[in-house]
Amino acid sequence: MKILAIESSCDETAAAVVCDGRQVLSNIISTQIPIHTLYGGVVPEIASRKHIERINRVVKMALKEANETLETVDAVAVTYGPGLVGALLVGVAQAKAMAYAAGLPLVGVHHIEGHISANYITDPTLEPPFLCLVVSGGHTHLVRVADYGKYEILGRSVDDAAGEAFDKVARSIGLGYPGGPKIEEAAKRGNPDAIDFPIGHVGDSPYDFSFSGLKSAVLNYQNAQRMKGIEINPDDLAASFQKAVVSALVEKSEIAIEEFGADRFALAGGVASNGALRSAMKEMCDRRGVKLCFPEPVLCTDNAAMIGSAAYYAYKNGRQDGWDLNAVPNLPLGE
Ligand code: KG4
Ligand code: ZN
Repeated sequence: MKILAIESSCDETAAAVVCDGRQVLSNIISTQIPIHTLYGGVVPEIASRKHIERINRVVKMALKEANETLETVDAVAVTYGPGLVGALLVGVAQAKAMAYAAGLPLVGVHHIEGHISANYITDPTLEPPFLCLVVSGGHTHLVRVADYGKYEILGRSVDDAAGEAFDKVARSIGLGYPGGPKIEEAAKRGNPDAIDFPIGHVGDSPYDFSFSGLKSAVLNYQNAQRMKGIEINPDDLAASFQKAVVSALVEKSEIAIEEFGADRFALAGGVASNGALRSAMKEMCDRRGVKLCFPEPVLCTDNAAMIGSAAYYAYKNGRQDGWDLNAVPNLPLGE
């Protein structure tokens, strides 16, 4: 079964053709990052406008590269939430129009379900149940994937998402947007033990995360150094901050692995492309004899191939949407 998938929830306009949920026939991503960089973050109105300008071309390219047409694919899938409402609407309208015109089934996909499903593409042997840490710009979720389409959220960030913390800290040290890759680069030159930043704990909840305390600690450190007239080393700051985030993520993941006796663990979302996170997770999983899976970087950040994968399993489970499918900016996962 070949699915044409569309993703436009934030600042990438993306389309892909995916066969049987696992085989990527094309994966086209038109990123708006250079435009939003000028403003230090995503400007929703500009994102919607750029999606409208680009979506037809991106979809055409995805079909062409896969050697398919609207007549030869079997369904059209689209991210309908969560995300920026104006941005989501562009993809939803495009998918509805194409599916209606071609008489194809329409499948609405949850963006985070897409991120998790990127692992099915990277690891063809991966099957539920498994545990997954979803770390993106908007979400930090520790999830038990009980079955295809069945998710139990064990824990989440009570404030900033991990990616959001990367972006905010990067901005505070003048590294620009998006912060994750910039911090990772700077951290390679810095000493992770230079500054002792706190790991956020949330009451007695073992699986919840908190990153706002860490973000404040980074800002306070910078202010204190400035007031003392001491020059800040941005590389050491980036490395120490990254170490604190990674430690928190690994620590909670390890508790969940222990508790659930998991033998497979997956990473998903933009922050999952971070090398320091990947190697710390690998070290922990190796130590516990757990198989770790993470998508290649292009499938970690926003793309439509992951939406095509999630849509395949959703469709097989009977999901099909009507022409009234709408964008849902704060769509919850698995509820
Ligand atoms: O999954 P994604 O592309 O979009 C959302 O659904 O949010 O994630 C984007 C987030 C941004 O916050 C970005 O800074 C972060 O992922 N990110 C990274 C890295 N690459 C992207 N964070 C840390 N290290 C990276 N290499
Ligand atoms: Zn995303």
